[in-house]
Amino acid sequence: MSSLVEAIAKQAQLTFSRNLSEENIVENLSKLIKNVSKIRATDLKLKDTLRTISNESKRKAPVTYIEVAENQTFSMGIFLLRNGARIPLHDHPGMHGVLKVIQGTVKITSFSALSNVPSDTKVPQDVISQLKTGQIDHLIPVEKHTSGNVTDKDEPCVLKPKEGNFHEICAVGGTAAFLDILAPPYDLKERDCHYYISAETKKTDSEVKCWLARTAPPEDFWCESAPYTGPNITL
Ligand SMILES: [Fe+2]
Repeated sequence: MSSLVEAIAKQAQLTFSRNLSEENIVENLSKLIKNVSKIRATDLKLKDTLRTISNESKRKAPVTYIEVAENQTFSMGIFLLRNGARIPLHDHPGMHGVLKVIQGTVKITSFSALSNVPSDTKVPQDVISQLKTGQIDHLIPVEKHTSGNVTDKDEPCVLKPKEGNFHEICAVGGTAAFLDILAPPYDLKERDCHYYISAETKKTDSEVKCWLARTAPPEDFWCESAPYTGPNITL
């Protein structure tokens, strides 16, 4: 019998294969979310890895990535975050994402790029003063979504090419882990991952309240990999 994680991988393959119509993607995406909502750390045999990471010295990487499955259609992996660690604000260019917390609590802050903002919209001075010179030319006007704590009891979080495509994820109150499905996967050409900082205005008359500026990856963030030891996946 197929394991839950294998069933999720097969559903992700079906959902994001390129020959589906928009209608079929919506239907299959909701099936995928339903499957992902059932996954628990025990289904992925994560107990030992989580224990090791919680006990390791702080000099180890703040974030560990376990690749579960990856092909040209999607990637599926597990992120393990030490207490207080964060995955800095980043984007997912043209991608869908499904994220399910399977251990602990994470705080997620996400942003959607605003369309229909005139290119000559004035950026308030209090936003400019938060940024470095080179960052001011390519600001992205965004809507900030209420950040909240997400636990393994919560439903999966979903991001789309135009909704919630930027996010920052922090582990709160202990080691945290989440399953992450991205489609199509990152590559180093069209879909490279970029990092951002956000700058908000206090000016009440500004139509846009928040902007994102590209930045170098923060020095306190780096990621190690660990082997996947869960159920076998055949696609
Ligand atoms: Fe992400």
